[in-house]
Amino acid sequence: MHSKHQVNITPGQKMKVEVKRIGINGEGVAYFKRKAIFIPNALPGEIVLVQAEHIAPSFVKANLVKIIKKSKDRIQPSCDVYDQCGGCQLQHVQYQAQLQAKEEILREAFQRYTNVSDLPLRPIIGMRDPKGYRNKAQLQLGRVKNKIIAGLYAPHSHQLVDISHCEIQHPVVNKTITSITNIIAQLNIPIYNERKRTGIVKTIVARVSTLHEICQVTLVTAKETLPQEKKLIAAIRRDCPEVVSLAQNIQPERSSIIFGKKTTILWGKETIEERLDALVFSLSPRAFFQLNTTQTIALYNTVKEFAGLQGDETVVDAYCGTGTIGLWLSQEAKEVRGIETIPEAIDNAKRNASLNNITNVRFYVGKAEQLLPEWLKQHFRPDVIVVDPPRTGCDKKLLHAIIDNKPNKFIYVSCNPSTLAKDSDVLLKNGYTISAMQPVDMFPQTSHVECCVLFTKQH
Ligand SMILES: C[S@@+](CC[C@H](N)C(=O)[O-])C[C@H]1O[C@@H](n2cnc3c(N)ncnc32)[C@H](O)[C@@H]1O
Repeated sequence: MHSKHQVNITPGQKMKVEVKRIGINGEGVAYFKRKAIFIPNALPGEIVLVQAEHIAPSFVKANLVKIIKKSKDRIQPSCDVYDQCGGCQLQHVQYQAQLQAKEEILREAFQRYTNVSDLPLRPIIGMRDPKGYRNKAQLQLGRVKNKIIAGLYAPHSHQLVDISHCEIQHPVVNKTITSITNIIAQLNIPIYNERKRTGIVKTIVARVSTLHEICQVTLVTAKETLPQEKKLIAAIRRDCPEVVSLAQNIQPERSSIIFGKKTTILWGKETIEERLDALVFSLSPRAFFQLNTTQTIALYNTVKEFAGLQGDETVVDAYCGTGTIGLWLSQEAKEVRGIETIPEAIDNAKRNASLNNITNVRFYVGKAEQLLPEWLKQHFRPDVIVVDPPRTGCDKKLLHAIIDNKPNKFIYVSCNPSTLAKDSDVLLKNGYTISAMQPVDMFPQTSHVECCVLFTKQH
């Protein structure tokens, strides 16, 4: 028997379709004989000629061949390498329409994975200047046409794309990475060759503190030895006065994981300080920190508003990173506990608490899905639980511990609409309701969207 999706589309086949909506990765979604066609770079409302590239049982990936009817939201991307790099997916869309698309992506995810009929979705908080916002870059070093460049690999390829002028990157990060790449080339320090497994320097990581526009740089190397180390440090100090902390991380593995276990400070400070409103945060090279400093304030203020603290509540900040959300809420709570798997981040969180003279927070190394259920078993009863998990979403054990113990408020900060919607469905079927949902545009020009959701107990 033929399923409704079984239509004859063959690779290379050309089709004229109308784009109906935006997909989760920023691609246009059209239908051809009821089969979903995903078309990168196509926009809702456009009529396009596409060519089938990959045929899967329930969808087809197709390339845009020609725009027959153009969307009024389409603009010329200003980046030279937009087509190659893959870092941004929505530069061809004017900013207001990008914001609408992100709200749409959230609505679609909830429509797909939950039964909620009237989502209390607030308008997304966008940026006044949606460029130059990324405070950190991790760029691979490579040799292209005999020149050493720092860049990103184009999606599904071994082609390194030079993004030294990246428009979403903070200008200080661009400047620092370009200068250090040039120094490495001038000093003939061998860069790592993944294919031959030779050479030393793999990646340059630069993080800017937007407070004083100073930089923390980490060179990820394949081996402990760093040839010309003294000359390298001297040249960086000469050419990059913005660099206040220079570290080396050793990653001997052939892996897509950038950092190895060992980090040493080559020169300067161990940490860099960043300010978010009234709070100061001290960040070690490997510590997680939100990439968009300006929008982080909007996101954390949303968490604070949703928590609605009066001063006598206990709060858990699960997946706490360097403790930022917990510290943000601490002034209005009785007690806050943070959980995080990376011990270095917990060290940072503790230092951040003392740096800001905050004494009512405790930070614990561990897995949220293990520690939280243990605490709940010991009759610890938080009033508010905040989670901010990685893209994979919350562990089921954690969700079930929430359901079994039903804190008054559960606040879910998510960077992945699909896992957010799937996890929401579990909560919605087990006694919670969504009271408010606030998307924040943390990553303009890309299809990523951050969203803060307030769950309250059903009456
Ligand atoms: C999206 S980040 C959020 C960090 C922090 N809330 C912030 O705003 O900067 C997720 C954090 O969860 C941590 N993490 C990942 N799995 C975890 C788990 N099972 N339990 C606790 N923390 C975890 C990661 O190391 C990372 O620091």
